[in-house]
Amino acid sequence: MILNFKHILWLFYLCGPSIIKPVTGSLSGKVTLPCFFPIPHSTPVTSPYGAIIYKDYLWIKWTKIFGMTESTVLVAQNGVIKIDPNYRNRISVPSHPEDVGDASLTVVKLRASDAGTYRCDVMYGIDDTHSTINLDVTGVVFHYRPNSGRYTLTFQEAVQTCLNIGATIVTPSQLKAAYDDGYEQCDAGWCSDQTVRYPMTRTRSPCSGDLKNKTGVRSYGRRKPTETYDVYCYADRLDGNVFYAPVTHKMTFDEAQKECAKHGAELASTGQLHVAWKRGLHQCNYGWVRDGSVRLPIIKPSPRCGKGKTGVFCLYRNKNQTGFPEPTRKFGAYCIGGKSSFVSLPLITLTGDVMLFVDKLILIPQVLI
Ligand SMILES: *[C@@H]1O[C@H](CO)[C@@H](O)[C@H](O)[C@H]1NC(C)=O
Ligand SMILES: *[C@@H]1O[C@H](CO)[C@@H](O)[C@H](O)[C@H]1NC(C)=O
Repeated sequence: MILNFKHILWLFYLCGPSIIKPVTGSLSGKVTLPCFFPIPHSTPVTSPYGAIIYKDYLWIKWTKIFGMTESTVLVAQNGVIKIDPNYRNRISVPSHPEDVGDASLTVVKLRASDAGTYRCDVMYGIDDTHSTINLDVTGVVFHYRPNSGRYTLTFQEAVQTCLNIGATIVTPSQLKAAYDDGYEQCDAGWCSDQTVRYPMTRTRSPCSGDLKNKTGVRSYGRRKPTETYDVYCYADRLDGNVFYAPVTHKMTFDEAQKECAKHGAELASTGQLHVAWKRGLHQCNYGWVRDGSVRLPIIKPSPRCGKGKTGVFCLYRNKNQTGFPEPTRKFGAYCIGGKSSFVSLPLITLTGDVMLFVDKLILIPQVLI
């Protein structure tokens, strides 16, 4: 790729004087990206028609930086605010920033796609202030179907099933945030408020549900706890490194457990594998995880890996997408813990854009030498 002079200047601007502050929020949660500016001493001006307090002109701009391009998130000029439609009803700045010297951006209903680098520019009187903040959004929502088959979990079992795989049952707002990021699954699953829902970004039969041909999260409403469905889980934490066991041969479930133990590790849970995937784990090999399922974490899809889609894919025993593979079948293994030089997970949430950004930063020395 070719970097022109403007790009290089831009990279210096970004990486040079200002320190990038990290802020972390969780999916569907709330964060505040800090931006403070000095309040100038403006002298009150008395006009011939009476006392008028002279107000300095205030201009606030929040920008999101994607790789080499930027997009405006919010502009506020003396009380008039313009907001990017992607952020409508989700962002705000203090109502009288000039009184407090605070133009911090509050973001609610966080989406994974909100992750990235933000810049705040403030002009007030003769002062110019800039700051750059990196936002990481943690948490991942996933559909879970146990080995027992499709639609086999009561509400209590659904709650427990998510806990057993290192996750919690999803809240409706977490499921909505995942949907807003493009998550789609045509299977009804329990949510924490005892409703049953599923997210559809496209309309297709037989997935139309209560919204007919509209897109959105479908809901069956609140159901009796004894009814049975799949479940949607949410995972956020990762204590340790998830890595693909560094062996060339394939293993049965028992062998996979032993292989992880050889590395001072154990098979990763389904929740841990999803969090690792969200943080950048990509491996085009099916591997065992702790619940006896076999999964495939794909970030960079190709026809062979993920059939052109990103996600953590599950390998079912039956054609109708039920059952885990027999434990005697042979696959790789996803382990957690231990000392492996294999995966040191990037801490940036990898939407494609942020990944691009990281790649380009790595390019700098090659360009300058
Ligand atoms: C949705 O369904 C209604 C009634 O079935 C139909 O009139 C309408 O054209 C459909 N809209 C789309 C976008 O398919
Ligand atoms: C799926 O297929 C398996 C094996 O063929 C069968 O036992 C099971 O009842 C099927 N489940 C559904 C929901 O169709």
